[in-house]
Amino acid sequence: MKILAIESSCDETAAAIIEDGRHILSNIVDSQVETHALYGGVVPEIASRRHMEAVVRVIDLALREANMDASDVDAVAATCAPGLIGALLVGANFGKSLAYSLQKPFIPVHHIRGHIAANYLVFSELKPPFLTLVASGGHSLLVLVRDYTSFEILGGTRDDAAGEAFDKVARVLGVGYPGGPKIDTMARGGDASKYPLPHSKVKDAPLDFSFSGLKTAVINLAHNAEQKGETIDKPALAAAFCAAVVDTLVPRLELAIDQTGVRDVVCAGGVAANSWLRKALHEMAARRKIQLYLPPLHLCGDNAAMIGSQAYYEFQAGNLGTTLQNAFATAEISEKICQKIS
Ligand code: KG4
Ligand code: ZN
Repeated sequence: MKILAIESSCDETAAAIIEDGRHILSNIVDSQVETHALYGGVVPEIASRRHMEAVVRVIDLALREANMDASDVDAVAATCAPGLIGALLVGANFGKSLAYSLQKPFIPVHHIRGHIAANYLVFSELKPPFLTLVASGGHSLLVLVRDYTSFEILGGTRDDAAGEAFDKVARVLGVGYPGGPKIDTMARGGDASKYPLPHSKVKDAPLDFSFSGLKTAVINLAHNAEQKGETIDKPALAAAFCAAVVDTLVPRLELAIDQTGVRDVVCAGGVAANSWLRKALHEMAARRKIQLYLPPLHLCGDNAAMIGSQAYYEFQAGNLGTTLQNAFATAEISEKICQKIS
């Protein structure tokens, strides 16, 4: 089954053709990063307009790269939640209309389910059940993937997502948008022990965590130094921040492994590209002798291939969108967005 998938939930307009949920026939990503970098972050209305301009082009490219016509497609899928609503509406409505005109099924896909499914595209042996650490710009979650379309949230952030914290710290350190990759690079060679940073705990919820205290500590440190005319050792502060994020996420994942007894572990989302996190996860997996799956860097960030993969399993489960399908800025990973009411 060949699915044409569209992703437009934030600042990437993407289209891909995926066969049977596991094989990438084409994968086109048109990034708006340079545009939003001018403003230090994503400007929602500009993002929507750029999706409008790019959507037809990326779909044409995805079809051409897969040597297909639109009529060869068996179904059309699009991210319908969560994300920037104006941005989502562009891809979701285009996808729904294209499916309608082709008289093919339309499959609405949850963006975070898609991030997890990115792993199916590279690890043919990976099958649920498994544990997932999701760390993206908008979400940080520990999820038990019971089946391809059945998810249980075990824990998550009470405030900022990991990627959001990276982006805010990057802004304070003056390295621009998007912050995560820049902080990651800056932290290389930095002395992580130079700046002690706080580690949060959520009372009575050991699998939950928080990044806002950590983020505020970095912001205060930078501002205090500025007021005193002191120079911040940016690589050291970036390294201390990366280490603190890792120390927040990895022990919770280990606790989830202990609590569930599940020994297949997946990481997903933009922050899964972070070199500190990847190293710590590899070390933890070796120490505990668990099976770790980390997506390659090009499938960590937003793309449509991951949406096409998850769409295949949504199709198998009968989770199809009708012509009334809407898009939603928020939706739990456990929700069926094909049945969600606006
Ligand atoms: O999953 P994603 O592409 O989009 C959302 O669904 O939010 O994640 C984007 C986030 C951004 O906050 C970006 O700064 C962060 O992932 N990110 C990183 C790295 N690469 C991307 N954070 C830390 N280290 C990285 N190497
Ligand atoms: Zn994403």
